Amino acid sequence: MWSNRRLVELFQIDHPIVLAPMAGLGTVDLAAAVSNAGGLGSIGCAVLTPELIARTVAELRRLTTKPINLNFFCHHPAKVDAARESGWHEKLSSYYRELGVDPATVAPRLDLASFGDAASAVVEQVRPEVVSFHFGLPEPRLVDRVKAAGCKVISSATTVDEACWLEKHGADAIIAQGYEAGGHRGLFLDTDRKRAVASQAGTFALVPQVADAVSVPVIAAGGIADGRGIAAAFALGAAAVQVGTAFLLCAESATPPLHREALRNAGKKQTVVTNVFSGRPARVLVNRLAAEIGPWSDAAPDFPLPMGELLSLRAAAEQNGSTDFTPLWSGQAAALAREMPAKMLIDLLVQETTKFGGG
Ligand SMILES: Cc1cc2nc3c(=O)[nH]c(=O)nc-3n(C[C@H](O)[C@H](O)[C@H](O)COP(=O)(O)O)c2cc1C
Repeated sequence: MWSNRRLVELFQIDHPIVLAPMAGLGTVDLAAAVSNAGGLGSIGCAVLTPELIARTVAELRRLTTKPINLNFFCHHPAKVDAARESGWHEKLSSYYRELGVDPATVAPRLDLASFGDAASAVVEQVRPEVVSFHFGLPEPRLVDRVKAAGCKVISSATTVDEACWLEKHGADAIIAQGYEAGGHRGLFLDTDRKRAVASQAGTFALVPQVADAVSVPVIAAGGIADGRGIAAAFALGAAAVQVGTAFLLCAESATPPLHREALRNAGKKQTVVTNVFSGRPARVLVNRLAAEIGPWSDAAPDFPLPMGELLSLRAAAEQNGSTDFTPLWSGQAAALAREMPAKMLIDLLVQETTKFGGG
């Protein structure tokens, strides 16, 4: 039923549906269910240590013999800027007082490891069929190591320029991430992110332009939640789709109860791209922090430092059932998400795509 079989063949899967890696919210069970149903299950490794990645893959391989994808961030380490960080703490101090959290609380300095030698060594050991990157690609010698381990390399592009850059630097396929997408924007070429984000194209405009500009196959991402979206992505030139938000309501995902409830009511809410939760632009359901301090704040510390700063505020608010300070990662199509096991969702997506003219 797939008119464009380039990615089905490249990844050796039955259905060209990639579960978006969702660091923190995806699970081994979710990835295994998607791979076993014929799609490509992914694990977001951005928040995992190398030891935990190895253990996670061992567990995943126990649950599925099908191809899997490991995903890593390739950001620059956070710049230390004490004045900026204390200014941000000060900016949030009225919230600390309101929630009864001592403003003198020192926030943990939460950093995330970018893909480096240690992660590369684990990849070489566990040899996932696909390795995907967000925020560009690691340095060329690391890309070479990953490819030498037999893994296909893919990464997200938010513009045609980024897609061409990724192809030139060795990507085997490009994820065209439209503006609708939930979670972090993969943008990496323009360092003026505020300006870049304001001019980014939606999936409908981005996918055909990327498909025209590169010779490697294209995976459409952003706002795709049902068979209509998949059929449209293929009509626009994609050879696969990457779907994130639509899986957040699956039983196998680790979406916390308050986040789940917000997604269930997404039809009455809006999403926005904001930098206030992590320091990089990401799409979330609008809540108090995004509305009052964001959507864009030039004062936000470097990625991912605001995440650590928010932990105590978030915990205090959540204790009262409030998501005022919770990053409610979500794409624009959240209201199309359906609550069902992941295997059933993949089966349904495939059936629906046939009904809408096929992929
Ligand atoms: C909760 C959540 C977490 C995400 N985490 C990651 C991640 O760790 N790595 C990554 O490459 N993309 C991540 N993304 C972005 C997805 O790869 C993808 O671009 C997006 O989900 C597609 O749009 P959709 O959410 O509308 O389906 C995340 C998306 C969501 C919704």
